[in-house]
Amino acid sequence: MKLWAGRFKHEIDKKTNDFNSSISFDCRMVKEDIEGSIAHATMLGAQNIISPKESEKIIDGLSEILSDIQSGKLKIDMTAEDIHTFIEGELTARIGDSGKRLHTARSRNDQVALDIRLHLLKQCDAIADSIEQLMNVILNKAEQYADTVMPGYTHLQRAQPITFGHHLMAYASMLYRDLDRLADCKKRMAVSPLGSGALAGTTYPLDREKVAELLNLNGVTSNSLDGVSDRDFVLELLSTISIIMVHLSRFSEEIIMWCSWEFKFIELDDAFSTGSSIMPQKKNPDIAELVRGKSGRVFGDLMTLLTVMKGIPLAYNKDMQEDKEAVFDAVDTVLICIDTFAAMLDTITVNKENMRNAAAKGFINATDCADYLVYKGLPFRDAYKATGTLVATCIDKGLTLETLPIEEYKAICDMFDEGVYDAISLDNCVKRRTVKGGPAPCCVLSEVKAMRELLK
Ligand code: ARG
Repeated sequence: MKLWAGRFKHEIDKKTNDFNSSISFDCRMVKEDIEGSIAHATMLGAQNIISPKESEKIIDGLSEILSDIQSGKLKIDMTAEDIHTFIEGELTARIGDSGKRLHTARSRNDQVALDIRLHLLKQCDAIADSIEQLMNVILNKAEQYADTVMPGYTHLQRAQPITFGHHLMAYASMLYRDLDRLADCKKRMAVSPLGSGALAGTTYPLDREKVAELLNLNGVTSNSLDGVSDRDFVLELLSTISIIMVHLSRFSEEIIMWCSWEFKFIELDDAFSTGSSIMPQKKNPDIAELVRGKSGRVFGDLMTLLTVMKGIPLAYNKDMQEDKEAVFDAVDTVLICIDTFAAMLDTITVNKENMRNAAAKGFINATDCADYLVYKGLPFRDAYKATGTLVATCIDKGLTLETLPIEEYKAICDMFDEGVYDAISLDNCVKRRTVKGGPAPCCVLSEVKAMRELLK
């Protein structure tokens, strides 16, 4: 029997019931639904909208239902319309008429808006925890490889020397911004819409602030129509999760490249790799590829809700029930991606020698060679031109800047002397890049330290 059976002559069509029902996915908000109802009932009692005795009965009944669900004693009825209906029905079955008073001055519209806020607040924390775990893995690796020279790239062409630690710390910076974005999302999420009613508030003397306070929220929504029809906070979280996935996807792409025979900068642990059904030699980075692939799925979740929301008139419309599967999928996906990625990263083997060999080719110290002349007084543009000519000479002769004889240098610019070899040695090129945010080992180490402080 439906809540709204009074107005109807017969039962809902069976398939339509399944189509309309949200319990298969909103059952994951059961705890928040009950917590919200307890806060509402507490306030109703305190305001004498229902008697304090009935309020107490409701609260006890709800607490019991929650513990029975948690212990497995009570199974959620998957034929119910939604979690709100199920809990209210169960409460009334247990405590009788008092249960029927719980929904006074409330609608499922403000109830569901509250539940999803409470639920997603917890998910924000879970995502933040996972990000911190991943950052810890990155920080440890960055520290370990603070002085491991590798080529830095632009256009995927070897560009200038950096360290592996520095490269990793770029991802720590991205993830730190993700943490900040999550914290920002929470600010607007943590307000109570209860009291908005179905759309037009209520005539009862509610204490909305009290409910917010009981639920540890920062305040209440300021317009009843907006209170029930706002899903910006879900969109903000989906956007934030999408950006996290962009970061993981870029990192995955690099892991995939670094594992290839073309790079061989790292090797994945067997526990985080897969083989081929036909090619016996293969060791594939499927995990990183899946993370990269799942980013597309999460962007789809964001697009889903943007599209659902863009054309619906105020206030609540059933379209909005579509918010949950999208955001739950995004949350589940990002959590499993971060956790699996962190475990994979933690167990990589780094091939320092290959990184260094790659850095030794491709003239990535050419800028440093030009800078050497600039330190001697030549304008940068002239130094750049002289070095370009030197690189061309090296290519002609099959040499590198390190192996090119000093006579060749002097023939192009008489400001060169033996000191140039010191200036262009890879280790020095990296060590001297001590500008804040630079790749010098000392900078990487202090960046790691600073980031650890921020995470405390
Ligand atoms: N399952 C619904 C949802 O998720 C709950 C709100 C129902 N409200 C209504 N007026 N039918 O949106």
